[in-house]
Amino acid sequence: MSQSLNLENIRKDFKYLANKKQVIYLDNASTTQKPDVVLNALSDFYRYSNANVHRGAYHLSEVATAKYDQARQVAADFIHAKSSDEIVFVRGCTEAINLVASSFGQQLNAGDEVIISAMEHHANIVPWQMLSKAKGIKIRVINLTESGELDLPHYKSLLNKHTKLVSIAHISNVLGAINDVGLMIEWAHEVGAKFLVDAAQSPAHIQIDVQALDCDFLTFSAHKHYGPTGVGILYGKHSLLERMVPYQTGGSMITSVTYESSEFMSAPHKFEAGTPAYAEAYGMSQALIYLNELGINNIKQAEDDLMVYTLEKFKQSDDLILYGPKDNRIGVFSFLVKGVHAHDVATILDSQGVAIRAGHHCAMPLMHTLSVPALARASLGVYNTKSEIDQLFDGLKTVKKIFSNE
Ligand SMILES: Cc1ncc(COP(=O)(O)O)c(C=O)c1O
Repeated sequence: MSQSLNLENIRKDFKYLANKKQVIYLDNASTTQKPDVVLNALSDFYRYSNANVHRGAYHLSEVATAKYDQARQVAADFIHAKSSDEIVFVRGCTEAINLVASSFGQQLNAGDEVIISAMEHHANIVPWQMLSKAKGIKIRVINLTESGELDLPHYKSLLNKHTKLVSIAHISNVLGAINDVGLMIEWAHEVGAKFLVDAAQSPAHIQIDVQALDCDFLTFSAHKHYGPTGVGILYGKHSLLERMVPYQTGGSMITSVTYESSEFMSAPHKFEAGTPAYAEAYGMSQALIYLNELGINNIKQAEDDLMVYTLEKFKQSDDLILYGPKDNRIGVFSFLVKGVHAHDVATILDSQGVAIRAGHHCAMPLMHTLSVPALARASLGVYNTKSEIDQLFDGLKTVKKIFSNE
């Protein structure tokens, strides 16, 4: 059962929001502010527990290693993985998708097909392009419907015996659409294809259950759900990870090395060459615990309320064009002010103390599909309030006033 969140208390967790000079922060799809529990965990780790992990035969290294291993378990539990051995620490979604393209990609051959969609982030396009150039695989792209959702009949028509992998955003960072990846995974498995879920936009907003989804890979970046930068996870079914070659090589991922050859550790360690971002991984685990304590269903309920409030305001404004579906979405609002370039909208809002993003949002092919050079985007986090949304729309009135000829 969901309970209402105490927004006042949540805002106290984020020192940034207490700063008198703070702007209204509505760029959460890009990255989030960090609560004290995460910042304190990071600084305490470096102050009191710092030693390289999996190396030192001394107590301090054992303490650091225990925290790093514990972080892996927290991440596994958060997405309901069977085992922490299915969690590879990476720098974030970008590295995770590059890892799969480079390593799983070695199992693909010319003529094999990878399906992505028209709403993907560059991080889920370019690695497949590189693989296509290197190995002659074909990239197929799922169309969008008029309302900004994935065209599922088109997806079904693309699946065939050559499809080896489907790699799709769980939630679009531009349209806010929540894709029905559960159904898409079922269909992919029917033709024997594996499925990668790019969950960059998910952990802060909706529940993730990799066993219920039955996805083969899933990735997220900590910085998008109140954790530190430079760390994230790649989830992979263990049997799949075991069959994949290492992505990078060096220290920490081997069992033996001679000048002629090396033996590698089993997954996940064979994918973690070099000193990992262990303090950041621990910081990420504290962000996940923070989300668990708030309750992901409570967060969803509160953010849905604020989303409905915001959607209503968009509906009332004739001068605004909002992109993305009406339902099955989160509070990511990409829009245009008629007759005004998105960058001008963001610049004027900034002068009013409201931070939003403007540009192609690392989704140039999507901008092309929508026939726009750029979009303005406001995106919600757990700490945003109705009064902040009111100030966004007051700022948009100023934009219109400045650009009107009256
Ligand atoms: C849907 C999606 N995929 C991938 C990424 C890349 O994430 P990162 O830059 O943390 O690697 C982002 C970041 O905005 C995203 O929104």
